[in-house]
Amino acid sequence: MKKSLVAGNWKMYKTPQESVTFVQELKRSVKNYEDRDILVCPPFTSLVPVSELLKDTPIKLGAQNVYFEEEGAFTGEVSAKMLKEVGVSCVICGHSERRNIFMETNEIINKKVKKTISTGMTAILCVGEKLEEREDEKTFDIIETQVQRCLDGIDNTEGLVIAYEPVWAIGTGKNATPEQAEEVHLFIKELVSKLFGSSSAESILILYGGSVKPENIDLLMAQKDIDGVLVGGASLKLDSFLRIIDYR
Ligand code: PGA
Repeated sequence: MKKSLVAGNWKMYKTPQESVTFVQELKRSVKNYEDRDILVCPPFTSLVPVSELLKDTPIKLGAQNVYFEEEGAFTGEVSAKMLKEVGVSCVICGHSERRNIFMETNEIINKKVKKTISTGMTAILCVGEKLEEREDEKTFDIIETQVQRCLDGIDNTEGLVIAYEPVWAIGTGKNATPEQAEEVHLFIKELVSKLFGSSSAESILILYGGSVKPENIDLLMAQKDIDGVLVGGASLKLDSFLRIIDYR
């Protein structure tokens, strides 16, 4: 059986000390699940202390970004090898904040996805349309272009997770309805099937992200093609993250 994934993207929140306190409490309170994986993605400065705490627990450690070069004169960047060595197993690639604030293109994201996978970690590729693109009925075109360009030159889906995150739903409190999300998830699965074959479409995880909260998690996870969630704001508070992890 394929496991679902509940991932917390902390963005630029929590100092190392705050991260440690949070993860100690998370470890103490979280139940044991056989059917779902749990992932936390703290800022870079918290990765080392959080990694120590997560040793021998089922909770996985993720990073929010990576640079695609092996090493070199790239001031301010962090390599895949550096992340792997401190215990990171997943990297978020192409989050909409990276695309829109830091001008990352599909071509840059493609390199990051490739580097992450070739270093032996899982790449969580984020895709999603902006509000005006949805209103112009361009959602499927945008998603298709992002998926195709970001996965260019990749020949299988091993080490790959895709997160559908409509930009208009991120941090706005306005989530896509379960039906709106399901429609796009199904489209992405069909696209994966076309690109990599039907068994890849069955095994790949497609996450939903954008204002996931305790109030909407159960309905979202009840959708056939939603295999997990990428949670921002609601992953920063223990109570709400625990309730999301404990979706029914
Ligand atoms: P949000 O963020 O849950 O705060 O909307 C989701 C994300 O950016 O991954």
